[in-house]
Amino acid sequence: MNAGSEFKSAVQGPAAAYDVARIRADFPILSQTVYGKPLVYFDSAASAQKPRAVIDSIVRTYETEYANVHRGIHYMSQRATEAMEGAREKVRAFLNAAETREIVFVRGATEGINLVAASWGRANLKPGDEIILSAMEHHSNIVPWQLIGEQTGAVLRVVPIDDTGTLDMAAYEKLFSPRTRIVAITHVSNALGTVTPIAEIIRIGHAHGVPVLVDGCQAAPHLSVDVRAIDADFYVFSGHKLYGPSGIGVLYGKAALLDAMPPYQGGGEMIDSVTFEKTTYADLPFKFEAGTPHIAGAIALGAAVDYVTGIGLARIRAYEDALLAYATERLGAINSLRIIGTAADKTAILSFVLDGVHPHDIGTILDREGVAVRTGHHCAQPVMDRFDVPATVRMSFGLYNTREEVDAFVKAMARVQEIFRA
Ligand SMILES: Cc1ncc(COP(=O)(O)O)c(C=O)c1O
Repeated sequence: MNAGSEFKSAVQGPAAAYDVARIRADFPILSQTVYGKPLVYFDSAASAQKPRAVIDSIVRTYETEYANVHRGIHYMSQRATEAMEGAREKVRAFLNAAETREIVFVRGATEGINLVAASWGRANLKPGDEIILSAMEHHSNIVPWQLIGEQTGAVLRVVPIDDTGTLDMAAYEKLFSPRTRIVAITHVSNALGTVTPIAEIIRIGHAHGVPVLVDGCQAAPHLSVDVRAIDADFYVFSGHKLYGPSGIGVLYGKAALLDAMPPYQGGGEMIDSVTFEKTTYADLPFKFEAGTPHIAGAIALGAAVDYVTGIGLARIRAYEDALLAYATERLGAINSLRIIGTAADKTAILSFVLDGVHPHDIGTILDREGVAVRTGHHCAQPVMDRFDVPATVRMSFGLYNTREEVDAFVKAMARVQEIFRA
């Protein structure tokens, strides 16, 4: 359905060499120049660029198979419904979830976490109950828990990280108490690149009898995720970081947990029947999908899933890890540059500071050289506090980046040093 010819062009057999030039050809935006220089896009952790297969899917939906879903008996509605439910099945397979009813389409990871915090939290949290988070969470895995904490009286407990940005697993175990109710932890840190030992985190959570929510936003584009193998209770990610559209994301939840949770938002689509006296709710996953969904977005997310699985996540990870190692080595040779986040298990993200130069200034100079990076606190202010820096420069890699781009980056950094004589 969503496999255009360009999509097929990137698909190579498992043993084939990773043909990054062919992959790049699938991403029209990458051939642009900015300020007269070739675009070097190192900001995929903020949002990834889109392959032709995803762009084509969006166009195809609106040109040929668009109508509102689930309610219409007419041909177009049924076709759009089939396409959207087909995408749900692709996401199910992508995460290796047991059933499609465990796949809830949301706007993104942020909405997925807010949904669980609000719905599961309202039903399960009491004053004095404890929620375990880590010190390297994105704000979207902190603030929703604070909000539900304000409403229920539950409090946060924070797992510390060491100087490399590795989670302190001994401290994690010690944080559990009879009041612990849930754990919510990232799979990959967006500020540091640390890959957390998520299966072990979940195992320990379960040993203490509590569910674990995994923020998989930075993991889904880089690692092969199997929610049943790691036994995650909830797993969230955003489509736009997985080469899909913005405004669509996924909440995976075990059916028994989702079934027991009250609806998050009320409205159309999520009901079974409505009277002024009583409303009954639709079955999963629709109970959590109030209102008209992002139809074209969900379908195009299916195309994005096809695209990355066509290349293969194991191959993507191997390629990106080699690129990260190369970039780490080359940046390590730059005078006065300090990498923030040096955990043994890292992926796709390289954060750093340069003595005496503010990250925003670095970002501005790099930009004029055609290099796009993110500078700031990366929505992870507690991480900045932990490393006592106001901000970092963050290079983040996607499946389309190259060693030549890393070289261009290092050259652009020389320009920064020239200007600041760092
Ligand atoms: C680790 C992590 N969690 C959550 C989010 C929030 O994602 P979104 O803004 O797509 O909802 C991000 C986005 O940067 C992230 O990196």
